[in-house]
Amino acid sequence: MATIRLPGLVDAHVHLREPGYEYKEDFLSGTAAALAGGVTTVLDMPNTNPPTATPDRLIEKARLAAAKVVCDVGLFVGATNTEEDAYLPVAHQACALKIYVSDTFGSLRIDTLSLLHRLFRTWAEQAAARGGYRSQGRADGLGPITVHAEELMLPVCLALSRIYEVPLHIAHVSRRSEIELIRDAKMRGFTVTCEVTPHHLFLSAEDLAQLGARGDMRPRLASPDDVAALWENLAVVDLFATDHAPHTLAEKGIDVVTPPQNTPPGVPGLETMLPLLLTAVHGGRLELEDVVARCVTNPRHIYGLADQLDTWVEVDVDAVYELANGGLHTRVGWTPFAGRAVRGRVERVYLRGACVYEQGQVMAQPGSGQVLFGAAAPGT
Ligand code: NCD
Ligand code: ZN
Repeated sequence: MATIRLPGLVDAHVHLREPGYEYKEDFLSGTAAALAGGVTTVLDMPNTNPPTATPDRLIEKARLAAAKVVCDVGLFVGATNTEEDAYLPVAHQACALKIYVSDTFGSLRIDTLSLLHRLFRTWAEQAAARGGYRSQGRADGLGPITVHAEELMLPVCLALSRIYEVPLHIAHVSRRSEIELIRDAKMRGFTVTCEVTPHHLFLSAEDLAQLGARGDMRPRLASPDDVAALWENLAVVDLFATDHAPHTLAEKGIDVVTPPQNTPPGVPGLETMLPLLLTAVHGGRLELEDVVARCVTNPRHIYGLADQLDTWVEVDVDAVYELANGGLHTRVGWTPFAGRAVRGRVERVYLRGACVYEQGQVMAQPGSGQVLFGAAAPGT
């Protein structure tokens, strides 16, 4: 057995579901799943119920998180059609702003260009008032605007980011046309970064026949040519992030062949990302440094996260096993990768010098993780 040490991973795109959907996941089960996946920092999305769209809701979510998390968590604020940019007074206590302009789960999709335009303008004004952006070295500044923008909405967001000089992060890129446009925008000096999920790297629309609704998420699984384009353009991909989006098997359809109507899109991913990436390293498709850059260094830079001292993950890189629905820490207890052979198992995780995860068991006390950017301390 060969054990290697990696820095604690950052997963910059997770849905921990609290408040409102605790039957799918909560801050304890979701951060336990993070540790099991070698992840010691998660950035939590705002499409909870109610959405994290106002100062009060960010502070309340931070309070809930502070009592339960076993790894560190940053919280996104989100824009809605009705609350618009009500989050602005706490913008600096969020890891970033999330804007949905494409089809998604929840009620956060922005419907009009005039509102989208305003959201970019006011984020830029708020950043200017606080001295800039964290990714530009202003520790007290703002995070980027992160968008769910597919197909034609992608150039719209690129243009607004350019007009207002707001750093733009593109969530879960899935298509050839999108990664090639981001590549060209980067070459022309746009301040844009992007992420790709493991399911868009390791699954395609051809897997849908076998997965049924368990393979349904937004963006949808794409064609094999789209998947090939993501691999060809890995140099353009700044982050690997899971888009961990748990829904129960009852919601997704226990019967794969005839699922219920209107199944919610989204799949869990926190516990399977690192084994999948390490398997790709073993197969020669990635270097270990590619993984560390995209799961540690780059997310820390893009979102302005401080280093976690004395924090590391011990991985048995020779462990060969099948991913399975059993034994997961996510409350929903399933993975779209069930049955897939992988190589590389998280053995132990240390956070700030303490062993927080060992051989399948979470050792940390609920609430021992930190809520980042002062969101748990009202009025900072
Ligand atoms: C996400 C969810 O369930 O919250 N679903 C998904 O398919 N990715 C929402 C989202 O990230 O768009
Ligand atoms: Zn998401």
